Amino acid sequence: MPNSPFHRSLSVPRELVVELGNRRYPIRIGRGLLADPGWAAMLGTRRRVLLTDATVDRLHGGVVRAALGIDDAAAFIVGPGESAKSIETASQAWSWLAEQRVGRDGVVVALGGGVVGDLAGFVAATWMRGIDFIQLPTTLLAMVDSSVGGKTAINLPAGKNLVGAFHQPIAVEADLATLDTLPSREFAAGLAETLKYGAIVDPPFFEWIEASTGELLARDETALAAAVHASCAHKAAIVARDERETGDRAWLNFGHTFGHAIEAAGGFRDLLHGESVAIGMLLAARLSARLGLAADADAERLGRTLEGLGLPTAVPTSMDPDDLLARMRLDKKSLGGRMRLVLWRGIGRAEVIDGVAEAEILAVLRG
Ligand code: NAD
Ligand code: GLY
Repeated sequence: MPNSPFHRSLSVPRELVVELGNRRYPIRIGRGLLADPGWAAMLGTRRRVLLTDATVDRLHGGVVRAALGIDDAAAFIVGPGESAKSIETASQAWSWLAEQRVGRDGVVVALGGGVVGDLAGFVAATWMRGIDFIQLPTTLLAMVDSSVGGKTAINLPAGKNLVGAFHQPIAVEADLATLDTLPSREFAAGLAETLKYGAIVDPPFFEWIEASTGELLARDETALAAAVHASCAHKAAIVARDERETGDRAWLNFGHTFGHAIEAAGGFRDLLHGESVAIGMLLAARLSARLGLAADADAERLGRTLEGLGLPTAVPTSMDPDDLLARMRLDKKSLGGRMRLVLWRGIGRAEVIDGVAEAEILAVLRG
C-alpha cells in the first residue's frame, strides 16, 4: 500500500518520467507552467507549430505563443469538439504543414483537451512518417489520461478512434491554471477517468477520492495536483509495461466498451466522453456482480462515488439497449463475435474477461 503511486504522489515533486525501453519523456504537473518559457526551451531552435482549438486558443493560446516565440501564422486552429477528430481536419492540417514547410525536425505543440491531443498526435505521427509532438493538456481528462501514453486517433463514421497510431509525445506539460476556465461538466468528466485508476488498480486512491470529493470539486490545488500526479503515475506504469495494449493496458478501457456505445448513441453530443465512461464503469461493475466476479456492494459504492462527483450513472432512457449492444459488438475490443470486456473482481482489481454472454450484457443495459 505505501508503495502505491497515490501515496508517493503525496510526497514527491510533481514530475514523472514515462520510461519505454530506450525512450523516455517527462510529465510535469503544476500551476503556471505554460507561462514559464522554461518548458519551450527544450526545443532550442527547432521549428515549432501550434495546434489547438478555437476555445482554448482564446483562453490560453497567447501564453503558449509567447513561450514558443511564434505568431498567428504558426498556429492551426480547429473548431472545438469531437468533430475535429476527422479525416477532413487531419487532411487540412497536413496541407497546412506542407504550406508551412514543416520538415522532419519540426515539432507539433498540441494545446487543448483530448480531441486536440488525439488529432495533433495523429497528424504528427503521420506527417513525414512521424515528427515530434508535445502535449499541453488543458482539460482534466487530457491531464489524467489522453495526453500520456501515445494513443493518437481520428474517428470514422463507422466508429470512434478507428484510424490512429501509437506515437508518444516528447513531453507533457500539465498546467493546472488552465483548469480554472474549464466548465464544471468537463471537469467532472475528467474526474471519471481519474476515479478509473482507483477502480482498476488502486483501492487507496479510490478511497482518497471518495473522501476528497469536496476538495476535488472545489478544484483545491493540492488535491488536484495529487490526483493528476497519481493518475499519470498509474498510466505511465501501465504504458511502460504494455505500450501496444497486448495485456494490462486494456484495463484502462474499464467501462469504455459500454461508454463508447453510449457516447456514439448520443451522437457525440448528448454525453461527454468522461460522462459516458462513468455510466460505462458502473455498468461494467454491475455486470461483474451479475457474473459472480465481484460483490454488488462494490458496484453500489462506485455508483455513489460517481454521483458524488457530479457524474451521470444511468443509461439515458432515450437509448435502446439492443442498439447499444449492437454498437458494443462493433467495438474493436470484441474478438470474433464474442464480447471481450474489462470487468473487475472488486475495487482496484480489473480483469479482462473473454466470451461474456450477450444476454448478460443486455440485462445490465436494461437495468
Ligand atoms: P475536448 O478536447 O473536446 O475538450 C472539451 C471541451 O472543453 C472543448 O469544447 C474544448 O474547447 C474545451 N476546453 C478545453 N480546455 C479548456 C479549458 N482549459 N478551459 C475552457 N474550455 C476548455 O474533450 P476531452 O474530454 O478533453 O477529450 C475527449 C477526447 O479524448 C475524446 O475524443 C476521447 O476519445 C479522447 N481520449 C483519448 C485518450 C487517449 O489515450 N488518447 C484517452 C481518453 C480520451
Ligand atoms: N485511455 C486508454 C489508453 O490510453 O490506453
